[in-house]
Amino acid sequence: MGRDSHLVLLAVLLFSSLVAAAKSADEDVIFGLAKLLSNPPSSWGAGGDVCVFDGITCERGGSGRVTSIDLGDMGLTGTLPTSLSSLTALKELHLQGNALHGDFPSLAGCTDLTRLMLDGNWFTSLPSDFLKDLPSLQYLSLEDLPLKPWSVPDAIVGSSLLETFSASNASIAGAFPAVLANLSSLRSLRLSYNNLTGGLPAGLAELIALESLQLNNQMSDGKLSGSIDVVAAMKNLRLLWIQSNKFTGPIPDFSNSQLEALNVRDNRLTGVVPASLYEIKTLRNVSLTNNLFQGPMPDFRGVNVDLAADTVSRFCQSRPGPCDPLVTTLLAVAAGFGYPAELAETWNGNTPCGNWIGIVCSNGDVSIFDLHNRGLSGTISPAIANLTSVGKLDLSNNHLTGVIPDTLTTMSNLKIFIVSNNSLDSELPKFKPSVKVLADRNQFGKSDSGSQSVSAGALKWKSDAGMIIGILVAVVLLVIIVGLFVHHRRKKNAEKFRPVSSKGSADESEMMKIQVVETNWSANGNTAVPADYSQVSAGSANITHLFESHGMQLPIEVLLKATDNFNEDCILGKGGFGVVFKGNLNERLVAVKRCDSGTMGTKGQQEFMAEIDVLTKVRHRHLVGLLGYCTHGYERLLVYEYMSGGTLREHLCDLQRSGYTPLTWTQRMTIALDVARGIEYLHGLAQETFIHRDLKPSNILLDQDLRAKVSDFGLVKLANDTDKSMMTRVAGTFGYLAPEYATTGKVTTKVDVYAYGVILMEMITGRKVLDDSLPDDETHLVTIFRRNMLDKEKFRKFVDPTLDFGPEAWKSLLEVADLARHCTAREQNQRPDMCHCVNRLSSLLDEWKPTEVDDDDECETSEMHLNQQLEKWRCDDFTISDSDTFSTFNM
Ligand SMILES: *[C@@H]1O[C@H](CO)[C@@H](O)[C@H](O)[C@H]1NC(C)=O
Ligand SMILES: *[C@@H]1O[C@H](CO)[C@@H](O)[C@H](O)[C@H]1NC(C)=O
Ligand SMILES: *[C@@H]1O[C@H](CO)[C@@H](O)[C@H](O)[C@H]1NC(C)=O
Ligand SMILES: *[C@@H]1O[C@H](CO)[C@@H](O)[C@H](O)[C@H]1NC(C)=O
Ligand SMILES: *[C@@H]1O[C@H](CO)[C@@H](O)[C@H](O)[C@H]1NC(C)=O
Ligand SMILES: *[C@@H]1O[C@H](CO)[C@@H](O)[C@H](O)[C@H]1NC(C)=O
Repeated sequence: MGRDSHLVLLAVLLFSSLVAAAKSADEDVIFGLAKLLSNPPSSWGAGGDVCVFDGITCERGGSGRVTSIDLGDMGLTGTLPTSLSSLTALKELHLQGNALHGDFPSLAGCTDLTRLMLDGNWFTSLPSDFLKDLPSLQYLSLEDLPLKPWSVPDAIVGSSLLETFSASNASIAGAFPAVLANLSSLRSLRLSYNNLTGGLPAGLAELIALESLQLNNQMSDGKLSGSIDVVAAMKNLRLLWIQSNKFTGPIPDFSNSQLEALNVRDNRLTGVVPASLYEIKTLRNVSLTNNLFQGPMPDFRGVNVDLAADTVSRFCQSRPGPCDPLVTTLLAVAAGFGYPAELAETWNGNTPCGNWIGIVCSNGDVSIFDLHNRGLSGTISPAIANLTSVGKLDLSNNHLTGVIPDTLTTMSNLKIFIVSNNSLDSELPKFKPSVKVLADRNQFGKSDSGSQSVSAGALKWKSDAGMIIGILVAVVLLVIIVGLFVHHRRKKNAEKFRPVSSKGSADESEMMKIQVVETNWSANGNTAVPADYSQVSAGSANITHLFESHGMQLPIEVLLKATDNFNEDCILGKGGFGVVFKGNLNERLVAVKRCDSGTMGTKGQQEFMAEIDVLTKVRHRHLVGLLGYCTHGYERLLVYEYMSGGTLREHLCDLQRSGYTPLTWTQRMTIALDVARGIEYLHGLAQETFIHRDLKPSNILLDQDLRAKVSDFGLVKLANDTDKSMMTRVAGTFGYLAPEYATTGKVTTKVDVYAYGVILMEMITGRKVLDDSLPDDETHLVTIFRRNMLDKEKFRKFVDPTLDFGPEAWKSLLEVADLARHCTAREQNQRPDMCHCVNRLSSLLDEWKPTEVDDDDECETSEMHLNQQLEKWRCDDFTISDSDTFSTFNM
């Protein structure tokens, strides 16, 4: 024997003694276990070879170490020893179906463990290193354990061979364990009867080996919720049990699936049951009861279907077959929104014209489609365009994304289209001018917001260089042609129209007279009121800021076309500062104010732009909206919305000439309130304070329905809120000038309140503010009105004789008269604010005529419509502009 063989022998001895030590350590663990069990199996003695104990398996031959403990269903009670983790050769630990209790010990050293079954015991907690470092684990079963609430530890990713994870009724709480998505070998996952909440993680789509998924009957309040789309990716799924949860949305497409059993009972699933489901050949059992399904009855032949009557009644027929075409279309629209449960509650059956939420029908077809503020997400389905009778389509205040389908522009009866306050992107399609479109607060044109369509577009561009070159050539040609054309038109037009002359019958100014006031202008004792009724200050303010309103610029050609080259027949009125033409812009009537180049010439382009800037900021339903402007050489043109009902002046005192019938008291009240609201907005509701300075009946325009809008506003913009007064050169109209303003030029919002009071007096009496035919001390309406108010009898006679009313209306008239008196108080601080007037009048009007309410939707609509219109004009001009520069300033 050599020295080497001695060494080998020594090593063998050492090894076998180590093995023996390990073996005896394993024996100690088993003896320890035997001690802790109150009823160990009868074959377990106090000593001897543990490898012959029932349920214990040791490695044969070799080491003799414990590799398996199988004590399932033996009625064992007691606890487990913490030494369990020294069974480092253990491959299987089966303890299910006993009554073991206490803390389940650590298995930290059991790296060979492949199966662990603990179901149905009384363990109360799991160790903090539970599932850590168990790389061989394939089968894990933890059902029916009264554990303290726990969550599946991230350490489970180490068990990458895990095929079965069963842990129903095991107190797993919280969000669905997203870490399970990393276990790509999983074939069976059972987490029923736990306290899971929230949605299924998108990552679960990675579990393509999964054959059985049971998530039913969560016991938490929230249960599992959200969409089940992710299961569609699990192509090997045979059993899916998700009953008794709060899942929403439709059943996803299961084509090419191997599904045998599907139980979705007692959820809030919606939508059409996909045909792909009942075409699955392997399908045997389906339970759909108690959901919010819609559409055609599914055609399950040769399948056990659990479908309670109440669920059946939701389908459009009680047997398989197509739905009414209207239902089909509406459900296609709902599909775009992901079949929200809120809609599904009512959108079922085959008659949408009954109680379907958001749907109003006339003559059996949908006339109003209104789902504003319903928390909708998803996209607008092109299927909406099949609802051809819809006149109003409102999807505002939702979370809709994607594009507005072009097909919507083909809806022949559409008049109002509202999609404000969503996240729609790409471009707003071009609707007919007759459609009122409200689409503010969206993502139109935000190409850099990382939207997918843009990057997809970019790829397409790259891949097709030939097309790019073709398009470039076409664009260059187009530009040249258009350039030539415009040049030609300009030359022609330049000969056609001449500067306006406004000399003539100017009884009152119609000119735009905004100015940005020089704040350091001092009245300087200059109290002379100008000789005209109205006056423009030609102050030369130093404007340096950038104007926001360039986008409203219209080309002269468009306005020439609109007014038939400023045809005399189109003249609506002449004033001291220009001529107003009636125009037709893309089938919409407008008023085009062509400013007198003589007066305007002294004003620079910059100053004009400053005024435009002010005007565009002021938008309200009771203010006449500026739609656009044009500068061309010395020409300065302003485009306003056209008001077909004439001026208040024509309706009050020029009846004979205008041919209008006298206004009723309600009509006057409504107009007074409209005006008050417009002025109130100017004064404070717009972000800045504006003062009109020239409020009078001829500046109050009426529409067809005799609703009023104030025009010629924006005379003065107050620089900031702290200083509500400012010196200006006096501009205004005799009779309506507040005393302090006429004498000092100090302008505050109370100047407008005074003028408003005068207008109220005119509306009550039907008299002009100044009547030269009367004796000197009676020429001014304010003086004589205030005087007459002191005597009831006199006052009654003083009121417009065309008014005809009972005691109720008389009472309201007296209140208005009182308001008028307050408004015209000599001291400005005794005059109320405009919002006080609004409140007084609106409460009076409510009492007097309860049904008369301002329709806010309508007003927003018309306002947006203007912007939409403007957008169209801009495009006609080939002007490139940000498609979402239009913003509305609603109150
Ligand atoms: C949940 O397990 C407990 C024992 O821990 C058992 O009593 C109960 O019946 C089980 N519940 C369900 C729904 O299986
Ligand atoms: C699961 O996998 C994802 C990506 O495959 C990884 O980001 C994540 O960290 C993994 N989770 C754990 C707990 O390791
Ligand atoms: C599960 O949630 C329910 C309701 O929220 C609660 O009553 C119950 O105690 C929770 N069970 C566990 C084990 O967390
Ligand atoms: C299908 O239903 C039958 C009877 O209800 C039942 O015996 C069977 O186990 C079910 N099969 C599956 C896969 O759920
Ligand atoms: C509109 O209706 C027609 C005929 O009913 C149908 O063929 C078409 O697919 C529908 N369009 C959409 C977008 O649903
Ligand atoms: C926009 O819509 C949300 C609902 O989607 C609503 O809560 C919010 O008030 C809306 N914003 C405006 C300014 O209307």
